[in-house]
Amino acid sequence: MLRSRLKAAAVASFLLLALLGAVAATAQTSQPIAYSHRVHVTNFKIDCRFCHSSATKSTSAGIPSVEKCMICHRAIAVDRPEVKKIAQYWKEKKPIPWNRVTELPDHTYFPHKRMVNAGVACLTCHPGIDQADAAIQKQEFTMGFCMDCHRKRGVSIDCWTCHV
Ligand code: HEC
Ligand code: HEC
Ligand code: HEC
Ligand code: HEC
Ligand code: HEC
Repeated sequence: MLRSRLKAAAVASFLLLALLGAVAATAQTSQPIAYSHRVHVTNFKIDCRFCHSSATKSTSAGIPSVEKCMICHRAIAVDRPEVKKIAQYWKEKKPIPWNRVTELPDHTYFPHKRMVNAGVACLTCHPGIDQADAAIQKQEFTMGFCMDCHRKRGVSIDCWTCHV
């Protein structure tokens, strides 16, 4: 009896977590600078890896430094208010305090380089970000999403592959 009640409670809290996750996934995060992926990726054809350059080398894809923005914005669109903010961070030698948009729970492990180097496209997991004016995570990272592809591609689905 106790066991089944515990199980019911666990299922209920799991559902609640799933629900909270769904809410978080659709809420838009405000950012210190109105950076647009649509402008950079779709209009000006800048490759994802130019800015997220550790995606092929490391666990995380990484967020570009102010220095990387300044490669172009020393000269491009310098009169725009949002671009002037970049120059201000650069002058003050401060990083831009971007807010995270997509994040897995702490008990999971996600090595970008493994999937990116195996040829899985960025937009498979970050769909629509190339068309967005503010970064948004449309694909929810449920365990099922990870497992489905691992099963299809014959990659390990052992619990310890993704849980640390
Ligand atoms: C490889 C060149 C390049 C890099 C690197 C780059 N940008 Fe841009 N950025 C552009 C171009 C091109 C435009 C469009 C200018 C225009 O509309 O005439 C632009 C426009 C912008 C605008 C103005 C959008 C608008 O229309 O109001 C902002 C803000 C901006 N970039 C932020 C950033 C930030 C933040 C970084 C660093 C993370 C960055 N950019 C890195 C090329 C670049
Ligand atoms: C010119 C640089 C630049 C390019 C090119 C670029 N990004 Fe970004 N990206 C950024 C910056 C700056 C942020 C942080 C600000 C934000 O969240 O909008 C970011 C944020 C993100 C985030 C959210 C990260 C988080 O959790 O906070 C994802 C996912 C992402 N980019 C994926 C991509 C993909 C996929 C591509 C190619 C289709 C791409 N980016 C191309 C600069 C770039
Ligand atoms: C198989 C799915 C998948 C693919 C492919 C993928 N990502 Fe991600 N991405 C994720 C997950 C999951 C997270 C959250 C990771 C975490 O919180 O540990 C994430 C987080 C990010 C972030 C946030 C910052 C960071 O370093 O964690 C950026 C930026 C990003 N991805 C960019 C990219 C780019 C660019 C590519 C292609 C070169 C790419 N991703 C390919 C699933 C993917
Ligand atoms: C669209 C397909 C796809 C999705 C979605 C996907 N993966 Fe993968 N993943 C792969 C492939 C392919 C490999 C194998 C790469 C290799 O052979 O090196 C891999 C490898 C891994 C590895 C290394 C496995 C090992 O044996 O060392 C981990 C950890 C991992 N993925 C975690 C995740 C997590 C966590 C998610 C969900 C957030 C996820 N993956 C979503 C395709 C995917
Ligand atoms: C391919 C990667 C992957 C594998 C393999 C995997 N998981 Fe997960 N698991 C995840 C991710 C990612 C999440 C987070 C999902 C979310 O936030 O909604 C998760 C969430 C969970 C949760 C929910 C925890 C919470 O935060 O509420 C449990 C329990 C769990 N996994 C157990 C397991 C067990 C048991 C196995 C082995 C049978 C396993 N997982 C194998 C990726 C994986």
